[in-house]
Amino acid sequence: MTDRETATTLRELIEERTIVVCCGSGGVGKTTAAGALAVEGARLGRRTCVVTIDPAKRLADALGLESLTNEPGRIEGDWEEPGELWALMLDTKTTFDDLVGRYAATPEQATLILSNHLYRNIAGALSGTQEYMAMEKLFELHDEGRFDLIVVDTPPTRNALDFLDAPRRLTRFLDNRIFRLLVMPTRTYMRMVGVATQAFLRTVAKVVGSDVVKDAVDFFAAFEGMEQGFRERAQKVLDLLSEPVTAFVLVAAPRRDAIEEALFFASRLQESDIEVEALIVNRLHPRFGQVPSVLTSPEAAAAPAAAPLAALVGNLRDLEGIAEREERYLKSLTRQVAPAPVVRVPLLDHDVHDLNGLGQVGRYLLGLEEG
Ligand SMILES: Nc1ncnc2c1ncn2[C@@H]1O[C@H](COP(=O)(O)OP(=O)(O)O)[C@@H](O)[C@H]1O
Ligand SMILES: [Mg+2]
Repeated sequence: MTDRETATTLRELIEERTIVVCCGSGGVGKTTAAGALAVEGARLGRRTCVVTIDPAKRLADALGLESLTNEPGRIEGDWEEPGELWALMLDTKTTFDDLVGRYAATPEQATLILSNHLYRNIAGALSGTQEYMAMEKLFELHDEGRFDLIVVDTPPTRNALDFLDAPRRLTRFLDNRIFRLLVMPTRTYMRMVGVATQAFLRTVAKVVGSDVVKDAVDFFAAFEGMEQGFRERAQKVLDLLSEPVTAFVLVAAPRRDAIEEALFFASRLQESDIEVEALIVNRLHPRFGQVPSVLTSPEAAAAPAAAPLAALVGNLRDLEGIAEREERYLKSLTRQVAPAPVVRVPLLDHDVHDLNGLGQVGRYLLGLEEG
């Protein structure tokens, strides 16, 4: 989306957009950022929902997410009218089940698929499923029109952007040639499948058990006719993600490895014509500036508290060294996402596990406090 106007602040994004997706590698603060942005959205008077993925236990408790319900729960707070805050914790399996229910031609077809062993195993394990289901849930919430703003957290893996490949992935999986052959009516099947393939399948059945092969055959048979629906749905999800109502925010930590991951994410998004509209750098070390010369003067060295003072000066120098290194790491990333604004959040002296903590991070995100 190169024709999209680049917002100048995160505040504008949460005031004006409908969807904000927080992405980045594991542990950098995506869940925290998504929660904090949602709190700010509600505070600014928007009906907001945050879709979280595996939040830390204490934060989940604070947001009333003690169980996986896959439906948003409401969080009371001091929001400006008509602001509301809702939160849900993604349940990949239930989301996939709902999707099957939606595209099955009949309730019987849905039941067949949902009770199939193979389906039950792949629903959670197929590569990219969690990533895709996060986007599917987002699409569903957006479609319902209950919220002005939906903030989405993404899974903590390098594959978090796998949903961008979802249509291809689903189709490739459902088009698997061997299984295509298996679900054909028996006579056609006998004509087409060579002796070698039949022998192969018999061997497969021997190794993995004939139940497994039967499950697979049933599974693909049950999916017959649903690929088109899946493919179209996946395409709609992708379209929604590249519409101007959607903004992608990249969260990064100022460490060398995390910056490399963030560069990877940024280029992956750019390949899919999706712009990073803001960069959040989380957990920056504080800067205290150069050590004042009076502290390193001969007088200081001769002072009664010279030893502890020298230790403190040493600490200060170390911190300044870390902060400088962080700034160096950040340069390439800032360049790559330009003209996206860079928002800084300092390393706090405590974990962020409740609404207060999220509110504190939110103040940095909105520029009410300098990080
Ligand atoms: N600015 C910060 N200062 C201190 N702790 C933070 C900060 N941001 C996040 N945390 C803590 O770091 C941990 C990881 O953050 P989280 O948002 O869960 O990361 P992610 O979702 O990217 O894996 C959490 O325990 C969170 O409370
Ligand atoms: Mg997380």
